[in-house]
Amino acid sequence: MILDGRSAEAIEQAARTLRAAGLVAFPTETVYGLGADAANDAAVAGIFTAKGRPSDHPLIVHVSAGAGQAQAIEHFAQPLPDFARRLVEAFWPGPLTLIVTRQHGVARAAAGGQDTIGLRCPAHPVAQALLVACAAQGVAGLAGPSANRFGRVSPTTAQHVQGEFGDDLLILDGGPCAVGIESTIIDCSRGVPVLLRPGLITRARIEAACGERLRTRQDVGAPDPRASGTLEAHYAPSAKVRLMDAAAIRTALDLLGADARHIAVWSRAELKSRSSHLLQRRMPDDAAAAARLLFAVLREFDAQGVKLIWVETPPDEPAWEGVRDRLQRAAAAG
Ligand code: TXA
Ligand code: MG
Repeated sequence: MILDGRSAEAIEQAARTLRAAGLVAFPTETVYGLGADAANDAAVAGIFTAKGRPSDHPLIVHVSAGAGQAQAIEHFAQPLPDFARRLVEAFWPGPLTLIVTRQHGVARAAAGGQDTIGLRCPAHPVAQALLVACAAQGVAGLAGPSANRFGRVSPTTAQHVQGEFGDDLLILDGGPCAVGIESTIIDCSRGVPVLLRPGLITRARIEAACGERLRTRQDVGAPDPRASGTLEAHYAPSAKVRLMDAAAIRTALDLLGADARHIAVWSRAELKSRSSHLLQRRMPDDAAAAARLLFAVLREFDAQGVKLIWVETPPDEPAWEGVRDRLQRAAAAG
């Protein structure tokens, strides 16, 4: 059931559901999340079941902004290193998740049994209203993975979430997500900042804010096998995604001529086809605008039953890193 997230009653109903160990989907500025009381291991188990996600994959815990924030951080995490504090100051509330050392004995299931925990303070007003209402009921944080089944494309509208989980789930509608790709994840538990998942915020801004060089997983040793957002094949629609430059797509369309069927193209370049069956959408020239559309476009093509999605390779520029990352993973899936 989809409720208007701007309604105070809907927020109260959602907070009561969460307090009673239920699940609620909520909007964030990045993608929609599937929330449960992070401190309640049984409630968190419900998320893993609903998503079909292995239960040793850790979840992100969402905390409120403002007065309750410091307390929430202390509740879930051991004291943050200085560079992590600077990231909190610079980017929260906003599309940044920090992996920090977990406080003993809390949110074990949400953390997938790891000694660390992912913390994020979302900027979306509906998410914040929900987090504040939850805190008032003694729920300090919401475990919330993207509200999609395991391995699938993240949802950026309430209708996408309903398509994934059906009508029994309480879904707060906050409109289409403004960022459109998941938060940037920085591991702050290894003494230096390590980028686990690129997002909207560029490396340069992160380094400027925290005063440290941003490391890669390769710089610090073994990759973490339990971060599903970092699996090579992830974020996949049912159709096969192929990244190609505009010239390659143009050649392929020319060769297929009027026979191009079951194919969709998402490109910045204007590409002509003689086929009336070809689905085409224009990719914006601006990285942030492209990120906002990315998952909705993949879902739309999928819904129309195409077998192949040809995507023009995004520019090799810092602002495009998040979009490029998601597309490469989608392309690696099949
Ligand atoms: O934008 C977002 O981050 C969205 C919204 C709903 O907040 N959430 C999201 O959650 O993308 P999820 O679960 O789909 O992706 C979170 C990623 C996963 O790859 C998970 O494995 C990783 O974060 N992660 C969470 N806690 C971690 C930890 N303690 N150590 C390493 N990776 C962690
Ligand atoms: Mg996800």
